[in-house]
Order: sequence, then C-alpha cells, then structure tokens
Amino acid sequence: MAQRKKIAIIGAGNIGGELAMLVARRELGDCVLLDLPERADFARGKALDIMQTGALKGFDCRVIGTSDYAEIEGSDVVIVTAGVPRKPGMSREDLLAVNLKIIRTVAEGVRTHAPSAFVIVISNPLDAMVYEMKKRTGFPRERVVGMAGVLDSARMQFFLAEALGVSVKDVRALVLGGHGDTMVPVLSYCTVNGVPVRQLLPRETLDAIVKRTAGGGGEIVKLMGTSAYYAPAEGAMTMAEAYLRDEKRLLACAAYLQGEYGYHDLYMGVPVIIGGKGVERVVEIELTPEEKALLDRSAEAVRNLINEASRL
Ligand code: APR
Repeated sequence: MAQRKKIAIIGAGNIGGELAMLVARRELGDCVLLDLPERADFARGKALDIMQTGALKGFDCRVIGTSDYAEIEGSDVVIVTAGVPRKPGMSREDLLAVNLKIIRTVAEGVRTHAPSAFVIVISNPLDAMVYEMKKRTGFPRERVVGMAGVLDSARMQFFLAEALGVSVKDVRALVLGGHGDTMVPVLSYCTVNGVPVRQLLPRETLDAIVKRTAGGGGEIVKLMGTSAYYAPAEGAMTMAEAYLRDEKRLLACAAYLQGEYGYHDLYMGVPVIIGGKGVERVVEIELTPEEKALLDRSAEAVRNLINEASRL
C-alpha cells in the first residue's frame, strides 16, 4: 500500500509553524507539529489553522499538533526548531546552555521514535546543536545535518541582487563555515549566472555585502525583537525536499566533517550533495589561501563552541 511521507517538526513556534505550512502547501506529506506539553494546544491550534487553509487551497495532507513523541513514529524527516530564539543584543552563542538542554531531550525522543529519519537541525547556536544531535542520537552523519549555509547564501544572494539591480533568480552565492560572526562568504564562487560578481561590483560594495551577510540574522533580530522565520523555514524545506525527492542538490549545509578540508569531528558549513541517501557527499572545493585562513578561523570558533557545550 502506498503511504504518504511523514515530516515531524519539533517546536511549533515561528519557524515550526511556517515549516508546517510549507509542507502542507507543497503536499510533501503528513506533518506532525510537536511542542512542550504546555504548548501542545498551541501546536494543535496551528495545525487546525493550517488544515483549514487546506480547505481553501485544496491540499491533501494531514497536519496535527501534539506533545507526544509517539506521534512522530515512522517519520521520514524530522526538522528541529525547538529552542529559544535570539533577542536583541544576544549572540547565537548566548543561547548555548539553554538550547543545549532542549536539544538533548529532543534527541532522545527522535532516537527512540524516529530512528530512521533524516534530521535537519535549525536551533541555534547551530553548529553546536547539530553536533549534539548527532552525538545523542548516534545516527550516521548522512542523516544529521544543520540548516545555515542555505540561509546565509540566500541572504547574500538578495544583497547582491539589490546592489546589482538584477533578478535574484540569477544570483548564486556560497557561504561556508560556522553559522556565526565568523561565517565565510566565498566571493570567488558568487556569480550572476556564471559571471563572477567581482567583475560586476566594486570592492567596497562587495566588502559591505560580506559584512552585512555575516550580520544578516542579527539585523532581523534587531528589527523584529526575535529571529527570522520565513527564510530559515524555506532553507530547511529546500533541504528536506532534496532528500524526499532524491534531487541530489549541491547545498551549503552544516555537515559532520571527518577530515574534509582538514577538519575532524566537527560540524560546519560546507557544500554537500543532498539526495535520497541524505548527505551523500561532502564536496571539497578549491579555496584561495585567504579564504582557507578565514575558514580555519571559523572552524576554530566552532571548535570552541563545541568544547564549551561538552562541559555543560
Ligand atoms: N521540545 C519541543 N519544543 C520545544 C522545547 C522542547 N524541549 N523547548 C522549546 N520548544 C518550543 C517552544 O515552546 C516554541 O514553541 O520551540 C518553539 C520555538 O519557537 P519560537 O520561540 O517561535 O522560536 P523560532 O523563531 O521558531 O526559532 C527556533 O531556531 O533559528 C533558531 O535561534 C532560533 O533557536 C531558535 C530556533
């Protein structure tokens, strides 16, 4: 008997709700929105609201809200948004202790109830959270990945398109490294349909875009008082779809490194191929000595974060 895919979303807040809506609109599968017991009704309410949108739009899938991990049984994909978002003035790192505790309970639930799922982590600080998720679930690296590079690259694409006055559809950007202030926007791989942006924009403009990209999340936190959710949800959906439809897309994602780029036992943003087997390949690209030095600095920052997490 044919069965619909099942997507579990842990955390029914801003990103979780947007994700459930995207799953439903694209009829990717049935969806479970899971939150804390005290937020279970909130999750149920969101699920109902989405199902009722389905009556208007005509999408065939079921969305439920719950706090019971038994409901995520058999999920093909689990997307983790549980955690506290940033407030103005906070860095992603400030969230470490509180979100680490949360990720540990989530990992336990996922390990027990969705042992064969492809897991995408969004909670911040991302690189430490996804590392903890892999450690606690014991899942292979192919099935635990962090969403950051897709989002940071999208932000950069938007900034470049604005500066150039061209369609964002034609702009490609690549942002590697940790999902924090040390992220590495790699200008040599940023193009407008193959034309390097370095040929199209002056140095000062590019420098300003690189800087704005690294602070892209903080810019929104400052404006809204909480972190972004539309683009983060779309970023995670892009990764989930690549897996569910075996698209074999090359995307910048936080992947577990075992020697690639010279780093070991670390999650960090690198280009990967996502297809039906999950993270099918970590792609090693050529970097200039300056870019590699920046990536080293970022890896160091991630390493410190992971070490700090292991002490908590
Ligand atoms: N299990 C399940 N859900 C939890 C848990 C838990 N142990 N702890 C917290 N949550 C839920 C909260 O109740 C809330 O509904 O996670 C949800 C988070 O939603 P928001 O506060 O709206 O945060 P959001 O903007 O969605 O961001 C979530 O993603 O980008 C990161 O920095 C961001 O870490 C944050 C996460």
